[in-house]
Amino acid sequence: MKVLKLSQCSAKEKKLINLAIEAREHACAPYSNFKVGAAALSKKGKIFQGCNIESADYTLTTHAEMQAVNCMVYAGEAPLVAIAVVLKCDQGYPTPCGLCRQKLREFSTPDAVVLSVNLDEKNKVKEIYKMTLAELLPYSFGKENLNK
Ligand code: THU
Ligand code: ZN
Repeated sequence: MKVLKLSQCSAKEKKLINLAIEAREHACAPYSNFKVGAAALSKKGKIFQGCNIESADYTLTTHAEMQAVNCMVYAGEAPLVAIAVVLKCDQGYPTPCGLCRQKLREFSTPDAVVLSVNLDEKNKVKEIYKMTLAELLPYSFGKENLNK
């Protein structure tokens, strides 16, 4: 895992991050007040955005990464090669939750890159954690583990 500043990112990475920041503006998180945005880049070069959408029945919540992945799959554009996830947390790592890691595992290339972006109080990029999905979800379960 690398910790980067926005200035150290490539133009493509900056674009993905900015689209994830924009997606976060659409978050519907009245219960947790924890907004998340995501932007997934497909292997074919298209970008799909997502945000978290909560419900009074908390279990109905959709996570930002899942939303972006579902849009990509719906468009027939899977797999993804990179995803930017943007949130604001003052403790720990701003990385996708376990459910999202598994969801990403299903629809990503093996070497897919995850850019986990933490925002500061002014909603500016504070730091970027760059890693592969394999680093985030080692020894993972996938369709190749299913018996024939
Ligand atoms: N959330 C995401 O959208 N993605 C994650 O990977 C972590 C959690 C959302 C779900 C919920 O709306 C809020 O963040 C707090 O858990
Ligand atoms: Zn999640």
